[in-house]
Amino acid sequence: MRLQLMTWPEVERYLARTPAILVPIGSTEQHGPSGLIGTDALTAEGLALGAATVAGAVVAPTLAIGMAQHHLGFPGSASLRPSTLVAVVRDLVVSMAATGFRQFLFVNGHGGNIAPLRTAFAEIYADTSFAGRAGALRCELFNWFESRALGPIVRELYGAAEGSHATPSEVALAAYYHRGQLRDVVLEPATAPGGHDFQDAADYRRRYPDGRMGSNPALAREEHGARIHDAVVADLLEAYHALIAA
Ligand code: NI
Repeated sequence: MRLQLMTWPEVERYLARTPAILVPIGSTEQHGPSGLIGTDALTAEGLALGAATVAGAVVAPTLAIGMAQHHLGFPGSASLRPSTLVAVVRDLVVSMAATGFRQFLFVNGHGGNIAPLRTAFAEIYADTSFAGRAGALRCELFNWFESRALGPIVRELYGAAEGSHATPSEVALAAYYHRGQLRDVVLEPATAPGGHDFQDAADYRRRYPDGRMGSNPALAREEHGARIHDAVVADLLEAYHALIAA
């Protein structure tokens, strides 16, 4: 269930049973000429809601702006600086802990969020350790695009054209949640230049002129998204159950 659609007595009863919450986190950034700006937030949210429905868990409001400075060479992209994102995540966790939540599973849709999330977790653990409250909180990170079940599906459907940004898998998953949103755009070349390196927004645009990294998102289909959703939700449920058992 969405936290936003609950009342405080309902949350209080939930906390008596399970002090855990799923927190979707994405980004607002270009996903090539055919991918939706909201892809990373929409996919993280859809997966979190899918797992929560099965597990009877609560889902926090999606953090839809992430650390995406390298995408600012393209219109529609927005970013927090790394230190801001660390502060936002720390405040979210520490404030919700004050109301009774203790276990936080971040369902992440964007690679640029990984380092700030890890730093935020270290700050949170410093807070508890310094205050003599070590063990009071637990934060886990689930990067859905690195999900174990995803690899074989992606290799079968897209091979090397999966690439690493504006991937057909993320485009298919977003299209599964938001039907009718697949764009019919001619991509040239069909599979974008690959690579993993970039520095600032200008460097990124120079290396990856249309925004994609090594991908051919024209291969994405809505029905692929259904398959990806089911497989990744199963992995996510495993991570959730491990967290609440800890
Ligand atoms: Ni993405």
